[in-house]
Amino acid sequence: MLKKVVITQPLPDKNLKGLVGRCDIAVLSGKQSLSSAQARDKLANCHGLICLLSDAIDHFVLDAMPKLEFVSSVSVGVDHIDVAILTERDIPLGHTPGVLAAATADAAFGLLLAAARRLVEGDRYIREGNWRPDNRWSADFFLGKDVSGTTLGIIGLGAIGQAMARRGAGFDMRLLSWTPSGRKVSGVDSVSLEELLSRSDFVSVHLALTGTTHDFLSADKIATMKPGAVLVNTARGGIVNELALAQALDSGHLYAAGLDVFESEPMAMDSPLLHHPRVVVVPHIGSATALTRAKMVELAVRNAKAGLDGRPMPHCVNPEVYPVFGAG
Ligand code: DGY
Repeated sequence: MLKKVVITQPLPDKNLKGLVGRCDIAVLSGKQSLSSAQARDKLANCHGLICLLSDAIDHFVLDAMPKLEFVSSVSVGVDHIDVAILTERDIPLGHTPGVLAAATADAAFGLLLAAARRLVEGDRYIREGNWRPDNRWSADFFLGKDVSGTTLGIIGLGAIGQAMARRGAGFDMRLLSWTPSGRKVSGVDSVSLEELLSRSDFVSVHLALTGTTHDFLSADKIATMKPGAVLVNTARGGIVNELALAQALDSGHLYAAGLDVFESEPMAMDSPLLHHPRVVVVPHIGSATALTRAKMVELAVRNAKAGLDGRPMPHCVNPEVYPVFGAG
């Protein structure tokens, strides 16, 4: 009998062809919560789960799947999943690193430019009918912040952070980095976090959200950022203290921010960040290009196929679940 794989949201059929014939596939609508009665029925007999970053895979959901043998997330970040429980139960978790680095760094650099050069404010200005003959171009009209030749501080030098560094180099920026692993990359000055925050005109966050990085850019750390700096976050909202960021913008300590990710998503419409004209917000679209998403699904399917066959996944978050890992 074929094993059952539940996919939490519809994905393009062509990307799933690697699974057809190998398992029974059940697709949830993506609209209902995984803990709803309807979803729980479908989860009860499933051996494999393919999920997205908007699916909270907590112990309630995991307890509803007593036969679960693997989870494959179509995401690089796995903060939506209780990894500790999976590891405790010897269930491998696959994710999709690498393939979204270029698209996410493009989005981060786009946010940096948009925030510094007030591109969204300018767009709003025209659409709201303010660009009139009595309100036209002048020498100080819509002045923004210089980008080229300034200093870019990159927090987290994984694949996305490194891709961001290459984009900064193209804009003749001085590159500083701090990363928990201590990784060094040619052309990027590895400095202490304090030095990065105090020297950078632009700070871009590229860390994973974990227990130790939650609230990483706290009020205290934001207070030590260079006056007039711009913060860009395409990693996870929980890493930056949003209230402290809003206060630093309101007080004029920071110039602007470009944000793709938020502590809670969808973001609350009463967030103080939305009231600040120099905050550019987009709805977690860092990896949202057709090619990147196709590559992410392809990798998630490869991880799922390995899970079905009982082979090590090509990209496993908790490889310690494989006996060979412990033996090595
Ligand atoms: C991920 O895959 O974790 C990214 O946040 C998607 O944009």
